[in-house]
Amino acid sequence: MRILAIESSCDETAAAVVEDGRRIISNIIATQVEEHKLYGGVVPEIASRRHCESIVGVVDEALKQAQMKLADIDAAAVTYAPGLIGALLVGVNFAKGLAYAAGKPLIPVHHIKGHIAANYIAHPELEPPYICLVASGGHSQIMRVENYTKFSTIGRTMDDAAGEAFDKAARAMGFPYPGGLHIDKAAQNGDSKKYRLPRPHTANPYDFSFSGLKTNVINLVHNAEQKGEQLDIDSLAASFQYTVADILTSKFVAAANEHGYKTAALAGGVAANSGLRTMLERRCAESGIKLYIPPVALCGDNAAMIGSQAFYEYTEVGITADGRLNACATMPLN
Ligand code: KG4
Ligand code: ZN
Repeated sequence: MRILAIESSCDETAAAVVEDGRRIISNIIATQVEEHKLYGGVVPEIASRRHCESIVGVVDEALKQAQMKLADIDAAAVTYAPGLIGALLVGVNFAKGLAYAAGKPLIPVHHIKGHIAANYIAHPELEPPYICLVASGGHSQIMRVENYTKFSTIGRTMDDAAGEAFDKAARAMGFPYPGGLHIDKAAQNGDSKKYRLPRPHTANPYDFSFSGLKTNVINLVHNAEQKGEQLDIDSLAASFQYTVADILTSKFVAAANEHGYKTAALAGGVAANSGLRTMLERRCAESGIKLYIPPVALCGDNAAMIGSQAFYEYTEVGITADGRLNACATMPLN
């Protein structure tokens, strides 16, 4: 089954053709990041406008690179939640029109389920059940993936998502948006033990809290500025990255052990972080847990992951939508 998938939940306009949920035939991403960088973050109105301008070309290119016409695809899929409402609406309405015109089913996909499904593309042998750590710009969660379409929450962030904390701490350190990648690069040259940063406690040991850690970094930078002191930014980046990776890894591995999982996966934009990948790989191996991580190219927002999850939504539970499909800014995974 060949699915033409569309993703427009934030600042990437993306389209892909995916076969049977596991094989990418084409995968096109038009990023708006350079424009949002001018403002230090995503400007929702600009994002919607750029999606409108890009979507026709991006979908055309995905079909062209797949050497297919609309008639050759079996279904259309689209991210309908969660995300920026104006941005989501562009993809949703375009996909509705496309499915209607082509006379094909339309499959709505939850963005975070898509991030998790990126693992199916990269790892043909991965099948549920497993435990998944989702760390993106808007989400940080420990999930049970019970089957391809059923998820339940073990822990989640009480405040900021991990990616949000990376971006805000990065901004304080003087890096452009989106800062996660810049912290990752700077951390390579820094000493992760130089700055001691707080590890907030949570009532549920598998929940996260990153806002105190982020504020600590911001205060450190402001205090140094006021005193005219020079901070070692590479080491601050390394210390911050180490602390976030350590919090995510410790809680995730403990949750996997307590719930008896021997198979685990990582998903979301922060899964691209080299410190997190290395630490999680090592600690999962020490606990005898087989860990799956998507390649960096599939960690950030893309439509191939949406096409993958759409295949399972359609074939496992027959999920489809009609012209009444609406976009939702927020929606829980389960
Ligand atoms: O999943 P994603 O592309 O978008 C959302 O669904 O939110 O995640 C974007 C987030 C941003 O916060 C970005 O800074 C972070 O992922 N990110 C990273 C890295 N690459 C992207 N964070 C840390 N290290 C990276 N290498
Ligand atoms: Zn995302």
